[in-house]
Amino acid sequence: MDNKDNLMEKIVSLCKRRGFIFQSSEIYGGFGSCYDFGPLGVEMKNNIKKSWWDEMTKLHENVVGLDASILMASEVWKASGHLTAGFSDLLVECKTCHKRFKTDEVKEKPPTRASSVGGRCPECGGELTKAQLFNLMMKTFVGPVEEKASSVYLRAETCQGIYVNFLNVLDSMRLKVPFGICQIGKAFRNEITPGNFIYRVREFEQMELQWFCNPKEADKLFNYWKEERLKWYEKLGVKKENLRVVEIPEKERAHYAKRQVDIEYKFPFGWREIEGVHNRGDWDLSNHAKYSGKDLKYFDEVSKEKYFPYIIETSVGVDRIFLMFLIDAYQEIPGGRTKTTESKKEVEIFLKLHQSLAPVKVAILPLVKNKEELVKKAKEVYQSLRPCFICQYDEVGSIGRRYRRQDEIGTLTSVTVDFQTLEDDTATLRNRDTMTQIRVKIPELKEKIQEI
Ligand code: GAP
Repeated sequence: MDNKDNLMEKIVSLCKRRGFIFQSSEIYGGFGSCYDFGPLGVEMKNNIKKSWWDEMTKLHENVVGLDASILMASEVWKASGHLTAGFSDLLVECKTCHKRFKTDEVKEKPPTRASSVGGRCPECGGELTKAQLFNLMMKTFVGPVEEKASSVYLRAETCQGIYVNFLNVLDSMRLKVPFGICQIGKAFRNEITPGNFIYRVREFEQMELQWFCNPKEADKLFNYWKEERLKWYEKLGVKKENLRVVEIPEKERAHYAKRQVDIEYKFPFGWREIEGVHNRGDWDLSNHAKYSGKDLKYFDEVSKEKYFPYIIETSVGVDRIFLMFLIDAYQEIPGGRTKTTESKKEVEIFLKLHQSLAPVKVAILPLVKNKEELVKKAKEVYQSLRPCFICQYDEVGSIGRRYRRQDEIGTLTSVTVDFQTLEDDTATLRNRDTMTQIRVKIPELKEKIQEI
């Protein structure tokens, strides 16, 4: 495969060309580090979310869902530690070009909070200011008149909505510890160094599970959930050699974590975190109890103990793993897989996405577009399959070129309506991965595709 920059460029280009991802506000020159998911992107993103949701709520016992609001009382963020140093970066500003950098991006002797003496601007070599704390939370206003309105924060992690609903969920669902609450939703961070396409952005989606347990069981359950998460990636076909687990030492952990492991993926730009597994101890519930004045302890009827449950958290960004799935599935085949005369000089792109993630499941292709009966029949097939699968109808270009177009977006199967169809009401069904073609009676297509 190409060098790493080239691969990222190709992924970005594929995303735009085939309707996966567009730059936000592109017609206005683009809005930094925000992206829009196009027609195929939204399908694939929904597939990722559905796979995670089903995994959590259907394949694990005692896990229920929640959809909390993005805006919350500001006290939530005081209690969580996000408005204090726990969620801030130390930054310096260049006095010449006015760009800001994290202190650890300044190569030699970065300035400190006490002194600006030290390294120079990594971009222009200018003098730098003293280091200052910069909070990553985004602020907005609630109320009709800005001056009188109260300022609130866009949530920086979805899990706080779960903690503040701990009692509501516990009581309404008559749950007993251990149990889990999972949630998918938007989070916002004023990242200082966004980049690598959708890897680090300022608006993103998280999928988080908060597992409430007896403190005595926390270590065991931490390992359990770490393994469960790894299994999910492997189930979705992510190459094992591209995944690893890194234990985070105490001084580098998030402010709430007693223990933290990062699940990392080998991106073209290096090994990077895709998911965090945290033992948050009683950090969140005890602080919310303190700030809200509510009793958030749990009474265990069997052991007669009363305690703050410990929280084991699994937290992953949808956008980040969207990029991971694309990179992991991306293949280039010089001359194409079918090696037709037409494709010989071309490099075929083949997106071998897991079947549950592929945005399009079926392509319906009339063999030629200038034969009225064929086109009519293909359109009938398309209409009959549309309610069951995400389908694409395509009649433009040679059949080989159309197969390649579908391979480029990872379409699972293609149904070709040809001259024989008009005689015996069968069509060919092509399997993306094996490229085998079988003839199937049109009324049986739905069942056959479901089997695949
Ligand atoms: N509730 C815990 C928490 O938020 P985190 O390690 O800060 O932990 C968890 O974030 C996951 O959220 C990360 O592993 C990553 O997948 C995703 N994430 C965090 N910041 C992100 C960003 N700026 N852009 C995209 N995804 C991000």
